Amino acid sequence: MNSFPLEPIEKASVGELRALQLKRLQATLDHAYRNSPVYRRKFDEAGVHPSDCRSLADLAKFPFTGKHDLRDNYPFGMFAVPREKCVRIHASSGTTGKPTVVGYTQNDINTWAHVMARSIRASGARPGDMVHVSYGYGLFTGGLGAHYGAERLGLTVVPFGGGQTERQVQLITDFRPDIIMVTPSYMLAIADEFERQGIDPRESSLRIGIFGAEPWTNDMRRAIEQRMGIDAVDIYGLSEVMGPGVANECVETKDGPTIWEDHFYPEIIDPETGEPVADGELGELVFTSLTKEALPIIRYRTRDLTRLLPGTARTMRRMEKITGRSDDMMIVRGVNVFPTQIEELICKRPELAPHYLCILTREGPLDCLTVAVEARQGLPHDSAEARAAADMLAHEIKTYIGSSAVIELRAEGGVERSVGKAKRVLDKRRLT
Ligand code: DLL
Repeated sequence: MNSFPLEPIEKASVGELRALQLKRLQATLDHAYRNSPVYRRKFDEAGVHPSDCRSLADLAKFPFTGKHDLRDNYPFGMFAVPREKCVRIHASSGTTGKPTVVGYTQNDINTWAHVMARSIRASGARPGDMVHVSYGYGLFTGGLGAHYGAERLGLTVVPFGGGQTERQVQLITDFRPDIIMVTPSYMLAIADEFERQGIDPRESSLRIGIFGAEPWTNDMRRAIEQRMGIDAVDIYGLSEVMGPGVANECVETKDGPTIWEDHFYPEIIDPETGEPVADGELGELVFTSLTKEALPIIRYRTRDLTRLLPGTARTMRRMEKITGRSDDMMIVRGVNVFPTQIEELICKRPELAPHYLCILTREGPLDCLTVAVEARQGLPHDSAEARAAADMLAHEIKTYIGSSAVIELRAEGGVERSVGKAKRVLDKRRLT
């Protein structure tokens, strides 16, 4: 599988990697303190100075950064270079408040293209392959991030973007790409469209799918791989830290994204206390950039829940496939429930399609969880077989997750399709 040579740092010893990280961390803290008034103030308030960082563990003395810091300093107040030195701006809209705005110097764009090329290569792509990009282009980092990385690796890029599902299928059929880069939920919508057009998606030219931008389970991976006849690989990233390509799974192991630790330093913290926890323990993922110029980011709290695992295909550490975001967690009558837990159980039932939405309502003082889900293609949603699967699902949610749920079976297309990140939770409780 690794006939294509790895970069030296991908094969470096842990010692070499840690030495590089410390050097880069010290330079980043220094750059942030000197050139970003926001970081200078934050460090001063916390009583720390870049010279206090003598080991990687010293990073824990420095203050966290949150989305609120970017919002409070909207639009360019966190930048550590003059705006004129930025060659690109991206922004993520979020559901509330002002967007968070991020900037890149030419060197940052080069670094990003580099880690994205490394990610696409780790997914099994090789120069000369063709990639169909269905991540959205524009202010979202998905499309352009994938695009520059694929060009850097020497791929032929089809910059489709999101939407126009019928045409996506037509171009995949006509151009015969090897790779698709898209959110896993939109991949399912494209697979449905293949079948609607009477084409078996397993017969398509696609060999590899690079899926991310939203949580998805290993059961969803198996469902997509079987249906599409491809290798499904996980790509992780976030705009505040860079965009896609902060971490990527290696196709030969598919055991959670390898973090490109030479550019992004990970920590896991207890989300309640903010204290770092040991590798292997579950908590909130925190990142510090090691090479960024325009927007160095120190201890950014991602809200993503995962654990750090030892390297396998590479020396660098992996992160466990993300369970969910702390903001996605539903509390139903005191029980913590993540949409991904429900997804796992849906994927186990062949009578159901993995298109689902969790709806929260309140009946008197009690929370109610309804899971809207479709029957698999071709199976009437009111058939006895679908009903039995729904009863089984309710039973398993109660048994394995501990929450009662009403299953609402919907006909094909009854759960809205996303063209980007899927919306998995509709919380109506605040409205009632
Ligand atoms: O979603 C960047 C991206 C684009 C990643 C394309 C992968 C592919 P944001 O819009 O800033 O950036 O959203 C970042 O999305 O904090 C996670 O909660 C979630 N996320 C991203 N990748 C994954 C993944 C892009 N592989 C937020 N698994 C992150 C689970 C993911 N969640």
